[in-house]
Amino acid sequence: MRVGVIGGGQLARMMVPPAVALGIDIRVLAEGEGMSAAIAARAIGDYRDLDTVLAFAADVDVITFDHEHVPQNVLAALVAAGHAVHPGPDALAVAQDKIVMRERLTGLGAPVPDWAVVHDAVALGVFLDAHGGEAVVKTPRGGYDGKGVRVVRSTEAADDWFALAAAGTGEGLLVEELVDFRRELAQLVARRPSGEVRAWPLVETVQRDGVCAEVFAPAPSSGELPEAARALATRMATELGVTGVLAVELFETNDGRLLINELAMRPHNTGHWTIDGAVTSQFEQHLRAVLDLPLGDPSPIAPWSVMVNILGGPTGATMPDRYGVAFADRPEVKFHSYGKESRAGRKVGHVTAIGSELDDTVARARAAAGFFQA
Ligand SMILES: Nc1ncnc2c1ncn2[C@@H]1O[C@H](COP(=O)(O)OP(=O)(O)O)[C@@H](O)[C@H]1O
Ligand SMILES: [Mg+2]
Repeated sequence: MRVGVIGGGQLARMMVPPAVALGIDIRVLAEGEGMSAAIAARAIGDYRDLDTVLAFAADVDVITFDHEHVPQNVLAALVAAGHAVHPGPDALAVAQDKIVMRERLTGLGAPVPDWAVVHDAVALGVFLDAHGGEAVVKTPRGGYDGKGVRVVRSTEAADDWFALAAAGTGEGLLVEELVDFRRELAQLVARRPSGEVRAWPLVETVQRDGVCAEVFAPAPSSGELPEAARALATRMATELGVTGVLAVELFETNDGRLLINELAMRPHNTGHWTIDGAVTSQFEQHLRAVLDLPLGDPSPIAPWSVMVNILGGPTGATMPDRYGVAFADRPEVKFHSYGKESRAGRKVGHVTAIGSELDDTVARARAAAGFFQA
């Protein structure tokens, strides 16, 4: 069994250990030398270039992805050439553009924040007037880790993005109500082409400056929310025909409702805890799903798992530089390096602690992460 992963980031990298364990031949098309998943790279090249991607696909059984940015014309050509592509082009189209995503989710009757498409400051002003003078503006494509997301409180606050959009695609910007959420949650599920869906526990996620910082699994004190989130994510995966892992990023409102923020159709930062905290990790499950194999048990192996991202750290340092002290202090914590050098705000790895008390587990995970962020 040969799986080809397009994109050489840390998500592709973290698919490698379960592929090795299962004897699956994993091959990565990386964007350049020195990428996080270079350890498994069989090819270096541009995922937007049709010939490069077709050549890469020629000797694998299924194509999947580290990110959602492969252009639709390339995806269509892969399918036309008879390759199995998971998730497929129609599902990915929904994850590639935040306006398309809002349209589809609204069409499916899924709960989402109030939203509109705006092309200029006048239209933005109308939306602001209707929403208490504040809103969130998003560029439809290419954003991640909060890049392309901006809270606005004046009609001119997105003028630079309107200018870029007008000069580029001509597509408008997405504007949404600024949700005064109690907290952010994420529901991850995996779905096989033949339809089986498995869900991990609902988790709480903490974002700082738009970037995932910490994840608590399962989401503490959640009442009926887990059942609702699982049903919602299962329905989205099924109705959108997602294959592989689907992450549903959610807001829990102050009156206890769930709203969908966005969807990601790949393993997701809020699922990294599953490597050390679940019977089947999101990376193993993704491989099983895209190969249309029976899915593994997503149950947690401990009452609590806490994941803390390693963001930033001393410029030029790598996580292994600090392993001596960190390992000595925290022998029970699991450390994951993405093989990147640190610089301000860069995600270079994560740690996961598991335990029977939430407070203690959080404290241990934060202490372990602290060794890399000083
Ligand atoms: N409508 C909104 N109301 C309040 N906060 C938001 C809203 N949309 C996004 N955010 C905040 O910004 C973060 C990043 O936004 P998101 O749309 O998920 O972009 P990205 O693609 O960068 O993950 C979210 O996790 C949340 O913290
Ligand atoms: Mg997001």
